[in-house]
Amino acid sequence: MKTGDLPRTIEWIGGIDGYVSLIDQTQLPETLIRIECRDPQSIWHAIQRLSVRGAPAIGIAAAMGAVLGIRDFAGTDIKEFLSKLDETCDYLASSRPTAVNLSWALERMKCVAKAKGNSNVSDIKNTLLEEAKRIRDEDAAMCREIGRVGESLIEDGMGVLTHCNAGGLATAEYGTALAPMYVAHEKGRSFRVFADETRPLLQGSRLTAWELQQAGIDVTVICDNMAASLMREGKIDLVITGADRIAANGDVANKIGTYGVAVLAKAHEIPFYVAAPRSTIDLATQDGSAIPIEERDPEEVRRGFGRLTAPADIPCFCPAFDVTPAKFVRGLITDAGLVEPVTASGIAEIMKNA
Ligand code: MRU
Repeated sequence: MKTGDLPRTIEWIGGIDGYVSLIDQTQLPETLIRIECRDPQSIWHAIQRLSVRGAPAIGIAAAMGAVLGIRDFAGTDIKEFLSKLDETCDYLASSRPTAVNLSWALERMKCVAKAKGNSNVSDIKNTLLEEAKRIRDEDAAMCREIGRVGESLIEDGMGVLTHCNAGGLATAEYGTALAPMYVAHEKGRSFRVFADETRPLLQGSRLTAWELQQAGIDVTVICDNMAASLMREGKIDLVITGADRIAANGDVANKIGTYGVAVLAKAHEIPFYVAAPRSTIDLATQDGSAIPIEERDPEEVRRGFGRLTAPADIPCFCPAFDVTPAKFVRGLITDAGLVEPVTASGIAEIMKNA
């Protein structure tokens, strides 16, 4: 199977009366099933329980969820309509705090609706549906571009480590961290990917390994605590991860464990790159200390594999993300080019036309 043949992570089916169809990522790799969401509540829960996850994908889901929230609005008063949209967007924004793509997509939906303030409710509903689909399509295009920008980093014979899943499943298609791997593979380069298992929810072993295998890319799963030793043995030449939010100074929030991988890479003089679209860069957040880190149910740690993996009454701590300081990041692979070295001015430059 080629990368482009992977089923779409998320899509809108039908017209304004339609619904959102998404892959239920909690069921992979055992079962590839889709779920249908017909109201904002089902989108909120799909995001919260990680049926749809990954920063760009949850932005797309939220934009489509906003359409589900206003499409049954029966009145004609634009002010009331816009207030219903605001209320829906606030609700969807509360599903997960760290990935900035979520609020970015919802703000974009609100702006588009406000700009159409002089037309009628029915027109604004259709405009919002078009905008949600455009956010999906633009994300797909940005991911292709990230692949094009980053592919030359991957040379024949390399070992490439990634953490969590920043592939097609986490985006409209193609992915961010995995995009350069897909392009390098399409160009016939031969390399080996190591996918960190990514405790506690195993996005690396369940999702990254699954989608790279579908694409015919050589992938090996390792437990998170094996990365250091592989690096010392010289098996890893390059690390690429995704991001949930990049602050104005280049600090990167990504899946818990990313920071540790970056420190290890630095210690072994292995280049550590972060791949992300500009929708993940948050210039309003000065540095990583201001990025909200989601804390999830400790049960995700306590019942690691569907059974007790710690004593039932033991306290467990479950932050979903961590922050890697910019100084550990060799470069940012973005849809607007490579930012290397990672500096506030380099980031501001690529954000000029965003
Ligand atoms: O908790 P998750 O699975 O949503 O975490 C996802 C990540 O950390 C990804 O690396 C990030 O969102 C980038 S996805 C292109």
